[in-house]
Amino acid sequence: MCGIIGYIGKKEASPILISGLRRLEYRGYDSAGVSVWNGRDLVNVKRTGRISVLSDAIDEKRPVGSLGIAHTRWATHGAPSEENAHPHSDCSGKVAVVHNGIIENFVSLKKSLLSEGHKFISETDTEVIAHMIEKYMKVEDFESAVVSTLKLLEGAYGLVAISADEPDKIIVAKKGSPLVIGIGDGEYFVASDTSAILDHTKNVIYLDDGEVGVVESGGYRVFNLHDNSVADKMIEEVSANMDAIEKGGFDTFMLKEIFEQPESIVNAMRGHITEGGSVVKFGGLEGHEKRLSEINRVIIVACGTSFHAGLVARWMMEELVKIPVEVEYASEFRYRNPIVDENCFVIAISQSGETADTLAALKLAKERGAFTYGVCNVVGSSIARAVDAGAYLHAGPEISVASTKAFTSQITVLALLSVYFAQQFGKINKNEAHKILSHLEQIPNKVKEYLENVKDVEEIAKEFYNATNILYLGRGANFPVALEGALKMKELSYIHAEGCPAAEMKHGPIALIDKEMPVIFIATKDSTYDKIVSNIQEVKARGGRVIAIATVGDNYLETLVEHVIYVPETIEIFSPLLNVIPMQLLAYYITTMKGHDVDKPRNLAKSVTVE
Ligand code: M6R
Repeated sequence: MCGIIGYIGKKEASPILISGLRRLEYRGYDSAGVSVWNGRDLVNVKRTGRISVLSDAIDEKRPVGSLGIAHTRWATHGAPSEENAHPHSDCSGKVAVVHNGIIENFVSLKKSLLSEGHKFISETDTEVIAHMIEKYMKVEDFESAVVSTLKLLEGAYGLVAISADEPDKIIVAKKGSPLVIGIGDGEYFVASDTSAILDHTKNVIYLDDGEVGVVESGGYRVFNLHDNSVADKMIEEVSANMDAIEKGGFDTFMLKEIFEQPESIVNAMRGHITEGGSVVKFGGLEGHEKRLSEINRVIIVACGTSFHAGLVARWMMEELVKIPVEVEYASEFRYRNPIVDENCFVIAISQSGETADTLAALKLAKERGAFTYGVCNVVGSSIARAVDAGAYLHAGPEISVASTKAFTSQITVLALLSVYFAQQFGKINKNEAHKILSHLEQIPNKVKEYLENVKDVEEIAKEFYNATNILYLGRGANFPVALEGALKMKELSYIHAEGCPAAEMKHGPIALIDKEMPVIFIATKDSTYDKIVSNIQEVKARGGRVIAIATVGDNYLETLVEHVIYVPETIEIFSPLLNVIPMQLLAYYITTMKGHDVDKPRNLAKSVTVE
């Protein structure tokens, strides 16, 4: 979730680029940079940290010119550093490129560029683009070189490029990552997000996937990358205010992040599913196959929502890999004397990558010889740097304190890791993997379908927002979803909420049930469905008010309980990815009805860096 701005016109570019970057900072930042044509060279200035640091550096270097591009980075490949910050250049320094998205085939592209003598200075996927443009510019003009390059890229991009050999134009392209052209008076802007240019113009055109734009100070044109046909683009007027733009038109970051899940789940899968959907790859584990073959136990350490993702992962791994899996609260693990040795694969799950207890648990496991693996969202975070290998979520910045999209992305990565291990250990063949993965690949659309039609949850929230206690019950793969639903509810609404395995209810929590008590059952069609229906009956018999999460088409539960929330069908191991969405929404609606700040609940911090 990085940000892009570019300018071509008569004014000085640097101040426009810096003010645009400041507008984009909310999307996440760890480093930023600009490239400005000063009439002779492209002058690049890059810094790690906030835009103010870059701004100070620009004040010193004073790159003066009326053509420039800039980028604020939220790392996806390579830690936050000046080398990895955009813009990226070719060997000659004559090409500058900024890019949002992920180039999935960058490893093979980089390999062949290296063999042709290109020198790289960053670990990013983006740098290959600058070198490819350089390569093609030896025989083509700038525009054709960009087109030739784009045709070889796999993955997603919002791309902006300039060249010192043709310093009268900016070339932009879009596939999967947004890009707009802003139309001013004798000047043009390009940006990943209208918020970056709203101070200058409200007239924009939105590029569609597969389109390329050439922007010059005298005008612009847009064409289709594949058939070269001219795209007839409509100029639209942006009316939204800044606050609405930062939140993507949603009232809060939490709601925005809930609705981002169809996209963030796709991003979590990017690059891992190969060979026509039948093989899973994890770049970080390549070269470790021998070590992995000696693994006989998996231990997962995490806190809060990440711990719940770990519990889902245990279910998936035991089911698919048939290996013993333990899931530990990091804060407990670190103060025990846990049995860990070099045959253990220890997974630290953390959105922030900075949670002190998780980091300490990880270090303990490492000291005892385990192979350590990180599943983090924030690139270059402490946990990501401390592990032997890892995978990023690529979920984009999660700003709301309550974790939502990170949870579903964690489960997605861990599902893929389960299939990976099952393949490595010979537990499933390609056909079986293909079947499982095709169910996983359908999840983003199912989440989308659910979110587009959701209406029942808000109505239910109206009825229950004054409750003082709520009980969440689930079994099997969905017991962790009960825990997660309860955590979301208590941390946001301050209503006391408990998650519990449905069968455990009769060993104590059943005493709480009376006609005031809302009980939420996760009762989708799976191997424990009949058992959970019996548990529902036990609650009904004691007057409890039941809300059931059910599979679309299950009409039976309606005859039994007051409220049914229907979710699309999927296989049991992936059902938590769908079942958690109404839990997130219920906590969200109840909290807003109570008038609390959804994004910043009291007493909590987004990143818990103290124990
Ligand atoms: O950054 P981490 O995933 O390590 O954070 C762990 C917990 O602090 C976090 O999940 C917390 O429980 C959230 N507030 C839950 O919404």
